[in-house]
Amino acid sequence: MSHRILLLSGPNLNLLGTREPDVYGTTTLDDVVRTVTAAAGQRDATVTHLQSNHEGELVEALHAAIGSADGLLVNLAAYSHTSVALRDAIRATGLPCVEVHLSNVHAREEFRHTTLTGGVSLGVITGFGLGSYTLGLTALLDHLDG
Ligand code: DQA
Repeated sequence: MSHRILLLSGPNLNLLGTREPDVYGTTTLDDVVRTVTAAAGQRDATVTHLQSNHEGELVEALHAAIGSADGLLVNLAAYSHTSVALRDAIRATGLPCVEVHLSNVHAREEFRHTTLTGGVSLGVITGFGLGSYTLGLTALLDHLDG
């Protein structure tokens, strides 16, 4: 079956490639979207991507996913650690969600060790760079395929 995936990117991820390359590498957000879209295509799934630096816009993108997407692949960046609103919005969609992070959040500052959005996700994949996204996509599509 053809699944529709919403790929959602949080604040500062528009700067990937030049932002703290020692932590996040030189992969750009365009590279992420291209790679996830190609990997999804191999499994007959489609990807819609939205990046925003604004919490409310991300909440609204999640609302818009109701009825238009089958699953969520999210890197909500810093909001993962802080946003009750995004956690509630993921729950409200009723859609399966996989959370990914480029860096290993558990190997970094203590405030990154908890993700509020991870608790409403099927699982969290953290620390594998671009690989976190492809692993996360595989997990999400496997779940959707049942
Ligand atoms: C991140 C990890 C977050 O802690 C951080 O705020 C980010 C990126 C990651 O992909 O490694 O902006 O989500």
